[in-house]
Amino acid sequence: MRRRIIAGNWKMNKTPTEAVALCELLKDLVKNDAVDVVYCVPAIDIIPVVNAVKGTNVQVGAEDISFEDKGAFTGQISAEMLVDAGVKYAIMGHSERREYNHETNEDVNKKVLKALENGITPIMCCGESLAQREQGITIDWIRQQVKVGFQGVTAEQAAKSVIAYEPIWAIGTGLTATAEQAEEVCKAIRDCIAEIYGTDTAEKIRIQYGGSMNAKNAAELLAQPDIDGGLIGGAALKADFGQIVNA
Ligand code: 13P
Repeated sequence: MRRRIIAGNWKMNKTPTEAVALCELLKDLVKNDAVDVVYCVPAIDIIPVVNAVKGTNVQVGAEDISFEDKGAFTGQISAEMLVDAGVKYAIMGHSERREYNHETNEDVNKKVLKALENGITPIMCCGESLAQREQGITIDWIRQQVKVGFQGVTAEQAAKSVIAYEPIWAIGTGLTATAEQAEEVCKAIRDCIAEIYGTDTAEKIRIQYGGSMNAKNAAELLAQPDIDGGLIGGAALKADFGQIVNA
């Protein structure tokens, strides 16, 4: 039985002061020892949030990670820095970074490897645009993102990793994939992992759905056999996040 993982992706929201206040607000609402609860927060909020959640069931993640170790990479944050700050997870390949920062599947792959090398659990995002869904190439596109993203990752590492399926057309739009649509793609991701590594690894890897998940639709999405959790944007910034954790 795979352990559920409910992660918030705060995106570019919350100053350090506001971040600590949000941790306070959510503290009792997200209590649930049967679920992994993660806050992926802006880099500048990482240290205050790590301190704010000490002694709770919440773990902290980054929204991105550099694939370089150190040196002349202005603005980037290394895996070593994240680990030292108390980070356990890192998102990579979010569609917003693919779009605005021109990240490729190859970049995402290097980030996945760098996270794993440093003991950080990758949350690797994949997802199709509306045009791709309408063209009927969703599954092919996602399989490519997963295959390239996991290039060079061992079976043992893959088993500990997280993949988030986030249809781009459902992000921040209030438009959610139906439970059937989300399950179809999450199952295809698990099948793809099974092809690469075998069913044992595929049964262990955790797959999240993300895209306008909220307190109302979470239970139905999370009831699907291949959906092991959620990656939540907007609804992670309010009390609703507690309802999603407990859905
Ligand atoms: P929303 O939940 O705001 O649609 O965002 C989803 C997302 O992009 C999480 O990474």
